[in-house]
Amino acid sequence: RTTELDSICHKAEVIPVLAIERVEDAVPLARALFEGGLTVLEVTLRTDCALEAIKRMKAALPQASIGVGTVLTPAQYRQAEQVGADFVVTPGTTEALYRYGVESPVPMLPGVATVSELMVGWQYGYRRFKFFPAEASGGVKALKSFAGPIPEARFCPTGGIGVNNAEDYLALKNVMCVGGSWLTPKSLVDAEDWNGIRLLAKEAADKFHH
Ligand code: 3PG
Repeated sequence: RTTELDSICHKAEVIPVLAIERVEDAVPLARALFEGGLTVLEVTLRTDCALEAIKRMKAALPQASIGVGTVLTPAQYRQAEQVGADFVVTPGTTEALYRYGVESPVPMLPGVATVSELMVGWQYGYRRFKFFPAEASGGVKALKSFAGPIPEARFCPTGGIGVNNAEDYLALKNVMCVGGSWLTPKSLVDAEDWNGIRLLAKEAADKFHH
């Protein structure tokens, strides 16, 4: 699991977090991000067309790694498996999700915000986590503190991260990549400005290169 997640996260320091409103946007949006150099995406289950959007992205861009985000229940986890998710991301954790994720063929990046949540995940064998909501939960300082008791855990922080603070997170030893919605501003998506998105992705890919 840890190895699979590492190989996915290694492909990108920045993971765009998407909420797709119109299913027709799915493929051109994913393609713009991919062409800009961001090859790992998280599509959240926050919109009605999310599952259909993921199916289309997987079919059109088989080389991209598509994660399904905002997974709250094992039932949604199963739906993510069925549409071909490469990984599952949760905003927080429940015992049911932790248990389901251990058995699933699709690896899970569980969301944690505190050391206690991290300790529960650790007991289930998880070593890679989403740190959410990053800025609201103590940001860089919190992650530095997590490295005291549990130095082996690695994180993908999201929530309040943008072009101006991504670097601060990526400089930490226990951060493998960062995620966020700043790469897909609503104004560009609504205008179907795929070239604008491609340029934004390229800027991030170049700036935050390994
Ligand atoms: C997530 O689920 O990762 C967040 O909603 C992304 O947070 P952001 O919109 O602050 O980037």
